[in-house]
Amino acid sequence: MRTPMIAGNWKMNTTIPEAIALVKGMKDGLERVDKVEKVICPPFVSLSAVKQLVQGTSIKVGAQNMHFEIKGAFTGEVSPLMLAGVCDYVILGHSERRQYFGESDDIVNSKMKAAMGAGLIPIMCVGERLEENEAGKTVEVVTRQVKGGLADIDSPQGIVIAYEPVWAIGTGKAATSEEASATIGIIREVVAEIYDASAADGMRILYGGSMNAANVAELVQKPEIDGGLIGGASLKAAEFVSMVQQTAAVQK
Ligand code: PGA
Repeated sequence: MRTPMIAGNWKMNTTIPEAIALVKGMKDGLERVDKVEKVICPPFVSLSAVKQLVQGTSIKVGAQNMHFEIKGAFTGEVSPLMLAGVCDYVILGHSERRQYFGESDDIVNSKMKAAMGAGLIPIMCVGERLEENEAGKTVEVVTRQVKGGLADIDSPQGIVIAYEPVWAIGTGKAATSEEASATIGIIREVVAEIYDASAADGMRILYGGSMNAANVAELVQKPEIDGGLIGGASLKAAEFVSMVQQTAAVQK
Protein backbone atom coordinates (compact mmCIF):
# COMPACT_ATOMS: atom_id res chain seq x y z
CA MET A 1 0.00 0.00 0.00
CA ARG A 2 1.32 3.41 -0.99
CA THR A 3 0.65 6.27 1.43
CA PRO A 4 -1.11 9.00 -0.50
CA MET A 5 0.54 12.40 -0.66
CA ILE A 6 -0.94 15.85 -1.04
CA ALA A 7 1.76 18.44 -1.72
CA GLY A 8 1.20 22.17 -2.03
CA ASN A 9 3.41 24.02 -4.50
CA TRP A 10 3.09 27.66 -3.56
CA LYS A 11 5.23 28.75 -6.52
CA MET A 12 6.37 32.42 -6.38
CA ASN A 13 3.61 33.45 -4.00
CA THR A 14 3.56 34.67 -0.38
CA THR A 15 5.87 37.03 1.47
CA ILE A 16 7.32 35.66 4.70
CA PRO A 17 4.44 37.04 6.84
CA GLU A 18 1.91 35.70 4.35
CA ALA A 19 3.58 32.28 4.37
CA ILE A 20 3.45 32.19 8.16
CA ALA A 21 -0.23 33.17 8.15
CA LEU A 22 -1.04 30.53 5.55
CA VAL A 23 0.68 27.76 7.52
CA LYS A 24 -1.07 28.85 10.70
CA GLY A 25 -4.37 28.70 8.85
CA MET A 26 -3.90 25.09 7.74
CA LYS A 27 -1.72 23.51 10.39
CA ASP A 28 -4.37 22.23 12.80
CA GLY A 29 -6.59 20.94 10.01
CA LEU A 30 -3.70 19.10 8.38
CA GLU A 31 -2.56 17.66 11.70
CA ARG A 32 -5.93 16.02 12.23
CA VAL A 33 -5.50 13.83 9.15
CA ASP A 34 -3.05 10.99 9.47
CA LYS A 35 -3.60 8.70 6.49
CA VAL A 36 -2.12 11.16 4.01
CA GLU A 37 1.38 12.57 3.82
CA LYS A 38 1.09 16.35 3.81
CA VAL A 39 3.81 18.47 2.23
CA ILE A 40 4.02 22.22 1.82
CA CYS A 41 6.51 23.83 -0.54
CA PRO A 42 6.83 27.57 0.13
CA PRO A 43 9.37 29.89 -1.53
CA PHE A 44 13.01 29.54 -0.38
CA VAL A 45 12.95 32.64 1.84
CA SER A 46 10.07 31.27 3.91
CA LEU A 47 11.38 27.72 4.30
CA SER A 48 12.96 28.15 7.68
CA ALA A 49 10.02 30.07 9.19
CA VAL A 50 7.64 27.41 7.87
CA LYS A 51 9.88 24.62 9.14
CA GLN A 52 9.84 26.12 12.63
CA LEU A 53 6.06 26.33 12.60
CA VAL A 54 5.57 22.69 11.64
CA GLN A 55 8.43 21.27 13.75
CA GLY A 56 7.17 18.30 15.73
CA THR A 57 4.06 17.86 13.56
CA SER A 58 3.44 15.36 10.77
CA ILE A 59 3.57 18.14 8.16
CA LYS A 60 6.58 17.92 5.84
CA VAL A 61 8.33 20.77 4.07
CA GLY A 62 9.64 20.84 0.52
CA ALA A 63 11.54 23.27 -1.69
CA GLN A 64 10.47 24.07 -5.25
CA ASN A 65 13.87 23.82 -6.93
CA MET A 66 17.61 23.72 -6.23
CA HIS A 67 20.96 23.74 -7.99
CA PHE A 68 22.78 20.48 -8.62
CA GLU A 69 26.13 21.65 -7.20
CA ILE A 70 26.80 21.35 -3.49
CA LYS A 71 28.46 24.78 -3.22
CA GLY A 72 30.48 27.29 -5.14
CA ALA A 73 30.36 30.33 -7.41
CA PHE A 74 26.75 30.11 -8.57
CA THR A 75 25.37 33.50 -7.62
CA GLY A 76 21.75 33.41 -6.60
CA GLU A 77 21.45 29.64 -6.48
CA VAL A 78 20.47 27.38 -3.57
CA SER A 79 22.26 24.10 -2.97
CA PRO A 80 20.97 20.71 -1.84
CA LEU A 81 23.08 20.95 1.31
CA MET A 82 21.42 24.22 2.28
CA LEU A 83 18.00 22.64 1.86
CA ALA A 84 18.85 19.39 3.61
CA GLY A 85 18.58 20.96 7.07
CA VAL A 86 15.19 22.51 6.38
CA CYS A 87 13.38 20.27 3.89
CA ASP A 88 12.38 16.67 3.47
CA TYR A 89 11.36 17.05 -0.16
CA VAL A 90 12.31 19.05 -3.22
CA ILE A 91 10.24 19.53 -6.37
CA LEU A 92 12.43 19.04 -9.44
CA GLY A 93 11.77 19.51 -13.14
CA HIS A 94 8.51 21.39 -12.73
CA SER A 95 7.21 22.40 -16.16
CA GLU A 96 7.68 26.08 -15.29
CA ARG A 97 11.36 25.36 -14.68
CA ARG A 98 11.58 23.46 -17.94
CA GLN A 99 9.69 26.13 -19.89
CA TYR A 100 11.04 29.40 -18.43
CA PHE A 101 14.46 28.36 -17.17
CA GLY A 102 15.55 25.92 -19.83
CA GLU A 103 15.76 22.84 -17.63
CA SER A 104 16.45 19.79 -19.76
CA ASP A 105 16.07 16.16 -18.76
CA ASP A 106 19.86 16.12 -18.22
CA ILE A 107 19.68 19.02 -15.79
CA VAL A 108 16.74 17.42 -13.99
CA ASN A 109 18.75 14.20 -13.76
CA SER A 110 21.75 16.02 -12.25
CA LYS A 111 19.43 17.63 -9.72
CA MET A 112 17.81 14.29 -8.89
CA LYS A 113 21.20 12.75 -8.09
CA ALA A 114 22.31 15.76 -6.08
CA ALA A 115 19.07 15.84 -4.08
CA MET A 116 19.28 12.17 -3.21
CA GLY A 117 22.96 12.53 -2.35
CA ALA A 118 22.00 15.20 0.17
CA GLY A 119 19.21 13.08 1.67
CA LEU A 120 16.34 15.01 0.09
CA ILE A 121 13.43 13.18 -1.51
CA PRO A 122 12.71 14.44 -5.02
CA ILE A 123 9.22 15.02 -6.37
CA MET A 124 10.06 14.81 -10.06
CA CYS A 125 7.58 16.47 -12.42
CA VAL A 126 6.86 15.24 -15.91
CA GLY A 127 4.12 16.08 -18.37
CA GLU A 128 3.38 16.89 -21.99
CA ARG A 129 2.56 20.29 -23.50
CA LEU A 130 -0.75 20.94 -25.23
CA GLU A 131 0.66 20.56 -28.74
CA GLU A 132 2.35 17.32 -27.77
CA ASN A 133 -0.91 16.05 -26.32
CA GLU A 134 -2.81 17.00 -29.45
CA ALA A 135 -0.17 15.33 -31.63
CA GLY A 136 -0.64 12.08 -29.69
CA LYS A 137 2.86 12.31 -28.19
CA THR A 138 1.98 12.10 -24.49
CA VAL A 139 3.43 8.64 -23.96
CA GLU A 140 6.59 9.45 -25.90
CA VAL A 141 7.17 12.67 -23.95
CA VAL A 142 6.57 11.32 -20.45
CA THR A 143 8.59 8.19 -21.20
CA ARG A 144 11.54 10.33 -22.29
CA GLN A 145 11.23 12.57 -19.24
CA VAL A 146 10.97 9.66 -16.79
CA LYS A 147 13.90 7.77 -18.33
CA GLY A 148 15.97 10.95 -18.60
CA GLY A 149 15.26 12.09 -15.06
CA LEU A 150 16.00 8.69 -13.53
CA ALA A 151 19.07 7.90 -15.65
CA ASP A 152 21.89 6.26 -13.66
CA ILE A 153 19.94 6.35 -10.41
CA ASP A 154 20.44 2.85 -9.05
CA SER A 155 17.78 2.85 -6.39
CA PRO A 156 14.57 4.84 -6.85
CA GLN A 157 13.60 4.24 -3.23
CA GLY A 158 11.42 7.08 -1.99
CA ILE A 159 11.29 9.04 -5.23
CA VAL A 160 7.91 10.58 -6.00
CA ILE A 161 6.84 11.39 -9.55
CA ALA A 162 4.20 14.00 -10.35
CA TYR A 163 2.45 13.72 -13.69
CA GLU A 164 1.46 17.26 -14.58
CA PRO A 165 0.18 17.81 -18.10
CA VAL A 166 1.30 21.34 -18.94
CA TRP A 167 -2.07 22.20 -20.47
CA ALA A 168 -3.76 21.49 -17.15
CA ILE A 169 -1.50 23.64 -14.96
CA GLY A 170 -3.14 26.85 -13.80
CA THR A 171 -5.78 26.64 -16.52
CA GLY A 172 -8.74 25.38 -14.53
CA LYS A 173 -8.92 22.48 -16.96
CA ALA A 174 -7.75 19.37 -15.10
CA ALA A 175 -7.18 16.11 -16.91
CA THR A 176 -10.05 13.69 -16.45
CA SER A 177 -9.40 10.97 -13.91
CA GLU A 178 -9.35 8.46 -16.79
CA GLU A 179 -6.70 10.41 -18.72
CA ALA A 180 -4.56 11.03 -15.64
CA SER A 181 -4.83 7.46 -14.49
CA ALA A 182 -3.97 6.03 -17.91
CA THR A 183 -0.82 8.13 -18.24
CA ILE A 184 0.23 7.42 -14.66
CA GLY A 185 -0.20 3.72 -15.40
CA ILE A 186 2.19 4.12 -18.33
CA ILE A 187 4.69 5.99 -16.15
CA ARG A 188 4.52 3.08 -13.70
CA GLU A 189 5.27 0.66 -16.54
CA VAL A 190 8.28 2.74 -17.52
CA VAL A 191 9.53 2.63 -13.93
CA ALA A 192 9.05 -1.16 -13.94
CA GLU A 193 11.03 -1.38 -17.17
CA ILE A 194 13.91 0.69 -15.75
CA TYR A 195 13.93 -1.08 -12.36
CA ASP A 196 11.47 -3.85 -11.58
CA ALA A 197 7.85 -4.49 -10.66
CA SER A 198 8.37 -3.96 -6.96
CA ALA A 199 10.03 -0.56 -7.49
CA ALA A 200 7.11 0.46 -9.70
CA ASP A 201 4.62 -0.86 -7.21
CA GLY A 202 6.16 1.08 -4.36
CA MET A 203 6.57 4.38 -6.16
CA ARG A 204 4.10 7.15 -5.46
CA ILE A 205 2.93 8.88 -8.62
CA LEU A 206 0.84 12.01 -8.14
CA TYR A 207 -1.34 13.96 -10.51
CA GLY A 208 -1.04 17.75 -10.81
CA GLY A 209 -2.81 20.42 -12.83
CA SER A 210 -5.89 22.38 -11.71
CA MET A 211 -6.60 19.96 -8.92
CA ASN A 212 -8.96 21.46 -6.36
CA ALA A 213 -11.46 20.57 -3.65
CA ALA A 214 -14.11 19.84 -6.28
CA ASN A 215 -12.15 17.29 -8.33
CA VAL A 216 -9.66 15.77 -5.89
CA ALA A 217 -11.87 12.88 -4.75
CA GLU A 218 -12.63 11.79 -8.29
CA LEU A 219 -8.93 11.84 -9.20
CA VAL A 220 -7.45 10.16 -6.13
CA GLN A 221 -10.02 7.37 -6.04
CA LYS A 222 -8.30 5.94 -9.12
CA PRO A 223 -5.98 3.15 -7.98
CA GLU A 224 -3.06 4.54 -10.00
CA ILE A 225 -3.25 8.10 -8.63
CA ASP A 226 -1.43 8.37 -5.30
CA GLY A 227 -2.33 11.98 -4.53
CA GLY A 228 -1.69 15.40 -5.94
CA LEU A 229 0.72 18.26 -6.46
CA ILE A 230 -1.43 21.32 -5.98
CA GLY A 231 -0.65 24.87 -7.10
CA GLY A 232 -3.39 27.50 -6.90
CA ALA A 233 -5.66 25.59 -4.52
CA SER A 234 -2.80 25.09 -2.03
CA LEU A 235 -2.78 28.84 -1.35
CA LYS A 236 -6.20 28.64 0.27
CA ALA A 237 -5.89 27.07 3.71
CA ALA A 238 -9.42 25.68 3.99
CA GLU A 239 -9.40 24.27 0.46
CA PHE A 240 -6.03 22.59 0.93
CA VAL A 241 -7.15 21.02 4.21
CA SER A 242 -10.32 19.82 2.52
CA MET A 243 -8.28 18.19 -0.26
CA VAL A 244 -6.19 16.33 2.32
CA GLN A 245 -9.34 15.23 4.19
CA GLN A 246 -11.03 14.05 1.00
CA THR A 247 -7.92 12.08 0.01
CA ALA A 248 -7.88 10.40 3.42
CA ALA A 249 -11.55 9.48 3.05
CA VAL A 250 -11.08 7.60 -0.23
CA GLN A 251 -11.04 3.81 0.14
CA LYS A 252 -9.02 1.99 -2.49
P1 PGA B 1 -2.16 24.26 -10.41
O1 PGA B 1 -0.57 23.99 -10.44
O2 PGA B 1 -2.74 23.38 -9.35
O3 PGA B 1 -2.28 25.74 -10.07
O4 PGA B 1 -2.68 23.95 -11.76
C1 PGA B 1 -0.07 22.70 -10.24
C2 PGA B 1 1.43 22.73 -10.34
O5 PGA B 1 1.97 23.46 -11.18
O6 PGA B 1 2.13 22.02 -9.58
